[in-house]
Amino acid sequence: MGTSILDRPDHCTLSRVVALATVCVVVVVCTYATSSPAGKDQKYNIWRRRSPTAFAPDDDLEVALRGAAYANRTLILTVLNEAYAEEDGLLDLFLRSMREGDGTAQLIDHVLFVAMDQQAFRRCRSLAGLRCYLLRQRDGDDLSSEQLYMSDGFIRMMWRRIRFLGDVLKHGYSFIFTDMDVMWLRNPFPKLDVGDGEDLLISSDKFNGEARDYVGNELNTGFFFVASNARTAALFDEWHAARRASPGMKEQDVLNRMKRRGAFRRLGVRARVLETARFSGFCQDSRDAAQVATVHANCCRTKRAKVADLRAVLRAAGRLNRTAAGLMRWPAHSECVRSWT
Ligand SMILES: *[C@@H]1O[C@H](CO)[C@@H](O)[C@H](O)[C@H]1NC(C)=O
Ligand SMILES: *[C@@H]1O[C@H](CO)[C@@H](O)[C@H](O)[C@H]1NC(C)=O
Repeated sequence: MGTSILDRPDHCTLSRVVALATVCVVVVVCTYATSSPAGKDQKYNIWRRRSPTAFAPDDDLEVALRGAAYANRTLILTVLNEAYAEEDGLLDLFLRSMREGDGTAQLIDHVLFVAMDQQAFRRCRSLAGLRCYLLRQRDGDDLSSEQLYMSDGFIRMMWRRIRFLGDVLKHGYSFIFTDMDVMWLRNPFPKLDVGDGEDLLISSDKFNGEARDYVGNELNTGFFFVASNARTAALFDEWHAARRASPGMKEQDVLNRMKRRGAFRRLGVRARVLETARFSGFCQDSRDAAQVATVHANCCRTKRAKVADLRAVLRAAGRLNRTAAGLMRWPAHSECVRSWT
C-alpha cells in the first residue's frame, strides 16, 4: 500500500523529466538544422559556433588564421626562431622543398609562419608571399638563438608552441603542424585520410606497421594533423598543463607518456599513426618513392647537421620523378649521425 502512494509523485517527476527532455531534444535538433548548411560538418558545429562570439574581430590571431586557412578552416602551421630563419638555413630549405615539391607550391599561401622572436618575424616578412605571425613571449623570454636539443630554451620553446597550438584549436581551426626541418616533397593532404573520424594523425620515428597502434608506436610531434573539436582542445590543455609535473622533459615525451597512461581513450581522442613510407624521417627512411610526402630531420641534434643532410635530401628528391616506380635510395644522413658525438 505504502509503495503505491510513493509511486505517484515518482511517476509525476518522471513524466516531467520526459517532457523536459523532449523539449531539449527539439531545441537541439532545430539549432542543428538551422545552423549547418553542410550536413557533413554537423558534428563540429557546436564547437565552431563559439568562435565568432568568443573572439573579437580584432583578435590578431583570428585574423592571421582566417587569412591562411582554407574555407574548411584548415591550415598549415610552422614555428621559427631567429636561428631557423637565418639565410640558407632551415626556413629557406623548407620553402625550397615546398616550391619544388609535387603539388606543394600552392600550399605556401596556406602556411602560417609563427615567429618566436622579432628577428625571425622580420626575416619572414622580408620574403615575398609568406604569411607571418609574431608570437609574443610572456616574460621577455629570448628564444632567438639556436636552442640545442633538450636545452632549457629548447624545452621552453616547445611548451610555448603547445600552448599556442591549443589556442588555435580553440579558435576553431584544424591544422597540420610541421616542424621547419620537415621537407615537403608532395602534398600531404590527400594522404591524410580522416575517413574514420580521426582527431589526430601523427608521425612516428619508427613505424611498427600498425597505424591504430598509437600506444606501441613512439609518436613524433614534428608533423601531425589535428582536427579542432572539444576533445582535441582538452588534450592540448592537459598536455600543456602536464609540463609542471614533468621538469626537464620535452613535450613529445610527455605526450607519449600521456597516451600510455590512457589519456587519449579517456578524452575520446581518436588517433592514428602515419606510416613512415609516406611521412618519413632520418630515424626511418621511406623506401617508397611513389608515396613519400615528407622527410623529417629527426634523430639529429644540431641545426648545422640538419641543414647539410636535408640539402642532400632535396638533391635526391629532384630525381624523384624519374625513379617514381622504383625504390628510393636516400643519401646517408652522415652529418646527423655525427651530431650526437
Ligand atoms: C614531377 O613531375 C611533375 C609533373 O611533370 C612536376 O610538376 C613536378 O614538379 C615534378 N616533381 C619534382 C620533385 O621534380
Ligand atoms: C580542406 O580543404 C583543402 C583544400 O580544398 C583540402 O586540401 C583539405 O584536405 C581539407 N582539409 C580537411 C581536413 O578536410
